[in-house]
Amino acid sequence: MKIGLFYGSSTCYTEIAAEKIQAELGDSLVDLFNIKDQGLDKVNDYDILILGISTWDFGELQEDWGKLWDQIDGIDVSDKIIAIFGLGDQDGYSEWFVDAVGMLHEKLLPQSPKFIGYWPTEGYQFEASKAVTEDGEYFVGLALDEDTQYELSDQRISDWSLQILEEIQSLL
Ligand SMILES: Cc1cc2nc3c(=O)[nH]c(=O)nc-3n(C[C@H](O)[C@H](O)[C@H](O)COP(=O)(O)O)c2cc1C
Repeated sequence: MKIGLFYGSSTCYTEIAAEKIQAELGDSLVDLFNIKDQGLDKVNDYDILILGISTWDFGELQEDWGKLWDQIDGIDVSDKIIAIFGLGDQDGYSEWFVDAVGMLHEKLLPQSPKFIGYWPTEGYQFEASKAVTEDGEYFVGLALDEDTQYELSDQRISDWSLQILEEIQSLL
């Protein structure tokens, strides 16, 4: 089993979270790719993907994801297992909290990959988010807030990593 973790990060917070997720899951299990330098070409080498994305500028995609956005349509993810995580600021950008997580999820949804790693919205306070399920109970991936809840991030990463490992094992 090999996992490809592809992330885009403008001020390094998503990158640091990606490295922590890799360490939690095991360095030998997870290959890290910063899409700014490495793009998405290697996505096809993996059956299991973790995708990391931050939200910028009132609900916009992190810029490296934005640049590769059209390329995503040409990648076949229909047989893949996919977990998404994202960074945002629920206080400063409360109406757009981790929107890019929801946008990436929606982009991939038509191909019906097996999404894992949904995460409870309990414990967060925000006005709106595109990353939330219809019932409001879950984000469609792990939401991290290094701006206002940095003290919770390590535990969230640790719990989420364990959760997705269990979900992967149940799917294989
Ligand atoms: C100018 C600016 C705009 C932002 N816009 C949003 C936003 O719309 N939604 C959100 O949840 N977070 C927003 N954020 C917070 C960032 O997503 C957060 O700081 C994140 O940790 C950045 O991660 P990165 O360094 O990996 O790109 C914004 C931050 C800045 C400085």
